[in-house]
Amino acid sequence: MKFFIDTANLNDIREAQALGVLDGVTTNPSLMAKEGISGKNNILKHYVDICNIVDGDVSAEVIAVDYDGMIKEGEELADLHPQIVVKLPMTKEGVKACKYFSDKGVKTNVTLVFSAGQALLAAKAGATYVSPFLGRLDDCSTDGLALIQEIRDIYDNYAFETQILAASIRHTMHVVNCAKIGADVMTGPLSSITGLLKHPLTDIGLAQFLADYAKGNQ
Ligand code: E4P
Repeated sequence: MKFFIDTANLNDIREAQALGVLDGVTTNPSLMAKEGISGKNNILKHYVDICNIVDGDVSAEVIAVDYDGMIKEGEELADLHPQIVVKLPMTKEGVKACKYFSDKGVKTNVTLVFSAGQALLAAKAGATYVSPFLGRLDDCSTDGLALIQEIRDIYDNYAFETQILAASIRHTMHVVNCAKIGADVMTGPLSSITGLLKHPLTDIGLAQFLADYAKGNQ
C-alpha cells in the first residue's frame, strides 16, 4: 500500500518524507488556501516546492469546470514537473478530460468520488488514480469502507489498472482497514501516518529494556 500525505504544508511533507515511508502527496484548493497560498504564480511555485521534497506523485487539482479550461489548466500543471498528477473532479467534463490526459500518457487522479458507478467511469476513462472520500462518507453515516470494497471488487473483476486512492482518511484505523481491504494507496494527514507508530506496550517495553540494561552497566 502506498502512503500519500494529504496536505499543502511543507513542514508536514518534509516530516513524512524524513520518516522514509512517503510515496506521494495529494493537495486540493482547500488545503492550498489553508496554507495561505493564493494567486496563480504562488500556487504553481508551491506545487514545484512540494515536488522537490517528495519522491513520488503529487496531485494538483484543476479549478476550471469546463472541458477546455480543464485541458488548458491540466497541461500547464503537467508541464510544471514530471511528478505532477492532474487532479480532475468527477463530472462529465472531468471524465472527458481524464480520457484526454490518459490518452496522452499524463497521470490523472479523479477526485470527489462517492459511488461505485463513478469509480467505474473513472477507470473506463483511464484514470491513474480514483479517489473515493472515505471520511466524508463516514461523516454522513454512510459506510466509506464498504464503497472501497465495492470498487476493489469491480476493478478486480475486469483487471482495471486504475489505483484506488482511499482519500479523506481521518485516523489510523482508516489506514489499517483500507490496507485490509486492498486499497492501493491511502492519503491522509500526517497524524494518520505517525499515529501508526503508537502503542503503550512498545513504550513500556522499551523503558524496561533500558532500565534493565542500566542495572547491569553502571
Ligand atoms: C483527496 O484527495 C482530498 O484532498 C482529501 O482527501 C479530502 O479530505 P477531507 O475530507 O479531509 O477534506
